Amino acid sequence: MKFLVVGSGGREHALAWKLRQSPLADRVFVAPGNAGTAIDAENVPIQADDLAGLVRFAKQEKIDLTVVGPEAPLAAGIVDLFTEEGLKIFGPTKAAAELESSKIFCKHLLRSAAVPTAEFHTFASRQEAVQFLTAREDEPVVVKADGLAAGKGVFVCENRQQALQALDRLGNELEFGTAGQRVVLEERLHGEEASVLAITDGRTLVTLPPAQDHKPAYDGDRGPNTGGMGAYSPTPVVPTDMLHWIEEHILVPTVHAMHRAGRPFRGVLYAGLIITRQGPKVLEYNVRFGDPECQPLMMRLQSDLAEVLLAAVEGRLDRIEPLRWDPRPAVCVVMASAGYPGAYKKGFPIRGLDEAANVPNTKIFHAGTALTPEGQIVTAGGRVLGVTALGDSVAQAKLYAYQAVKCIRWDGAWCRKDIADKALPFRL
Ligand code: AMP
Ligand code: GLY
Repeated sequence: MKFLVVGSGGREHALAWKLRQSPLADRVFVAPGNAGTAIDAENVPIQADDLAGLVRFAKQEKIDLTVVGPEAPLAAGIVDLFTEEGLKIFGPTKAAAELESSKIFCKHLLRSAAVPTAEFHTFASRQEAVQFLTAREDEPVVVKADGLAAGKGVFVCENRQQALQALDRLGNELEFGTAGQRVVLEERLHGEEASVLAITDGRTLVTLPPAQDHKPAYDGDRGPNTGGMGAYSPTPVVPTDMLHWIEEHILVPTVHAMHRAGRPFRGVLYAGLIITRQGPKVLEYNVRFGDPECQPLMMRLQSDLAEVLLAAVEGRLDRIEPLRWDPRPAVCVVMASAGYPGAYKKGFPIRGLDEAANVPNTKIFHAGTALTPEGQIVTAGGRVLGVTALGDSVAQAKLYAYQAVKCIRWDGAWCRKDIADKALPFRL
């Protein structure tokens, strides 16, 4: 069979690497991919937002299954387009992807399904939100842009003044486009965060082991928010009984509510959760694999990914064997360019990749990398590599990952030093 992975990050490298291991796979293409996917699969020079180009390629190559990494093509309707053309594709339709692309839609759906989430109000304009804030008591509040804003559309505010500033900033069209025209104001919650992902065909749900992301840029969760500076799985923040509770009270009711809303959900349902004293609550839904959560998950998955994704697309997840997972934890440390998540330069040669690949139980997933015509691997993005390792304990996996990180050098390379430390107190 032939597979096509759409995207170019660490998530897509991990998906392509895992698909390549399937006995079903003859060829695995990645569009547009990076230097790592050029080694583990075959790159195709088509951008992830060139939906017509992707359809053309899939038809011409007779691709058996396309797997979409990022949210933007899903929100733009890539699944609807492929399906109309009779092409198999894993992911939600445009209407179902609104669970991620419209926070207002998501919040109303959660309310209708009685899924635990922060109390909220939605506003058709920023002006209405300003009036609401001015009229009520001054207390902490979270301001969220309704639309997709690459993780930058959320402001956790201490007081009214900060919230008004956030609303003002969302009006900057250069930064947020139309994403901030409508807004959500939300109760501020407290607790550890975790990511719980499930693969669903719209009727049956296969929940993956819980993971934890590290969104703030610097150690100790300080600094600006990023796409994610590292992740590990499983996380003791979500013990097994809690995972079952989340499945029953959060994921299943969401899938049912999407059905009732006439938007059956197929693909990855990714709950961004906060574990409050009242229990887990949904902060947001994503409609795709998490990046970097996907890297430790693929490292641990022992079942055939191709078989699972095909079963999801063909509506027969109820008939597959339970997924098999390596019991060992996996830790992924993201190495980033100087300046990220702000502006950064590209094109620095990356050294030490071969040496790093010799560290036991380790895989270097590429994200923002490119191959020069001379065959040199250089930096080409903010998040450059996801150095991922398995170990008998989280501490050992972390040790291997950082041992490999130490081998890798380029001008300005940096990473957080405390990935997975949140798991360590649970061992006491
Ligand atoms: P989101 O993109 O909605 O997951 O929000 C990004 C980050 O903002 C989350 O990972 C949380 O750290 C924080 N956040 C979002 N909503 C809330 C909330 N209601 N209370 C506290 N923190 C929040
Ligand atoms: N790791 C966060 C995300 O994929 O949205």
